[in-house]
This record gives sequence, structure tokens and C-alpha cells, in this order.
Amino acid sequence: MHVDEAIRSRRTHKFFAGGAVDDATLRELVDLGRWAPNHRFTEPWRFYAVRHARLPAMKEAVLQSLDAMAKGGDAESMRKLEQKRDKIARRLDGTGAVLVVTWRRKPDDPAEDREDYAATACAVQNVLLGAAARGLVSLWSTGGVLMSPSMREFYGVGAGEDVAAIVFLGHPQARLEGRRYKSVDEVLRFV
Ligand SMILES: Cc1cc2nc3c(=O)[nH]c(=O)nc-3n(C[C@H](O)[C@H](O)[C@H](O)COP(=O)(O)O)c2cc1C
Repeated sequence: MHVDEAIRSRRTHKFFAGGAVDDATLRELVDLGRWAPNHRFTEPWRFYAVRHARLPAMKEAVLQSLDAMAKGGDAESMRKLEQKRDKIARRLDGTGAVLVVTWRRKPDDPAEDREDYAATACAVQNVLLGAAARGLVSLWSTGGVLMSPSMREFYGVGAGEDVAAIVFLGHPQARLEGRRYKSVDEVLRFV
């Protein structure tokens, strides 16, 4: 697949058709991720792969974290919690694997830290495009509960790292059309 086609056809999918994404594919995607540009070869990214077989355990952990976060809420917040529970459970039931992408923070060097986050975001996009080129679909999520301290513990995220993306990977359930609201002329000025 030409890179232009991968860029244009990649879409954020919220639900997946079921079936695993295997270790070999996860390794290929991480290999693409680590070829992202990064200033001074900091290679700030780290990847944590939640295999298909571990997704039921991840679902349990997410649901427990959600319940803990919502404790003591009123009727309306309990209704919203129930909706969130349903959504995350349905999503994880169809997911093929999850890649958690972190970067090593540099609290003493904000300029380099910012560049490292940018590099990690490029690595995430490489993963998403690599998935698209393999007929897989993806979701880049930053949902709060997925990055909670207990979920960090579940993934085994190292101290001094922050989560840039929880990438859900899977097989397509539907074909999705893309949307962009700004044309090239609205975002481009030739100098
Ligand atoms: C940094 C970042 C965080 C995102 N977090 C979420 C998220 O938490 N939940 C979600 O549904 N989508 C999330 N997205 C996906 C965007 O919603 C999605 O890219 C946008 O709707 C455009 O759709 P497209 O990816 O199909 O072009 C995130 C995207 C980025 C770049």
C-alpha cells in the first residue's frame, strides 16, 4: 500500500470485529514506531503490548478502576458510569491487542521533553499507518481511566514515563468514512 493511501484510509475505529492481533504483527508495528524521527536520538518511546489473551484481564482492571473513580456519585453520574462500562467492555471484547505507548519524561528539560512527546506521537502515527497497511484498524485513546495509576500498574509502565497513547488494534467491523473540516487553502499560506 502506498503511504498516501495508508494516511488517507486510516480511521479511528471505536469497535472491532474480534480476533487476535498476533505477536509477530505487534513486533512489526513497534519496529515501525521506533523508526520515527527523534531529536538527538533520545528514542524516548516505550511500548507495552497487551496480548489478546490478556484483554479479559484488562477489561476487568478497567471496570474496577472505573468503579473506584465513580464511588459515591449521584444517580446521573451512576447512569453515565453504566454507559462507560458498557462501551469499554464492548470495545475490549472485539479488540485484537492493545499497545500502550509511553515516553520517558524529562522534567528538568521542558524543551527536550516537548520534543520527546512530539517524537512519540510520530511513533504512534507510524504504528497506526502500519496497522492500516496490514488491513487492521485502530483507535488512539487517551481516556482517563485507561491511564489511571492502577492501569499503569496493570501495563507495567515504568517510573518516570507517561502514557502518550493507548492504541487499540483489531480487525475492521465496518468501513468508516473520514471527515476534515478545513481545506488545504484554509491551513496553508505560501511564504
Ligand atoms: C492525542 C490524541 C488523543 C486521542 N484520544 C482519543 C480518545 O481518548 N478517545 C477517542 O475516541 N479518540 C481519541 N482520539 C482520536 C480522535 O478522536 C480522532 O483522531 C479524530 O476524531 C479524527 O478521526 P480520524 O482519526 O478517523 O481521522 C485521539 C487522537 C489523538 C491524536
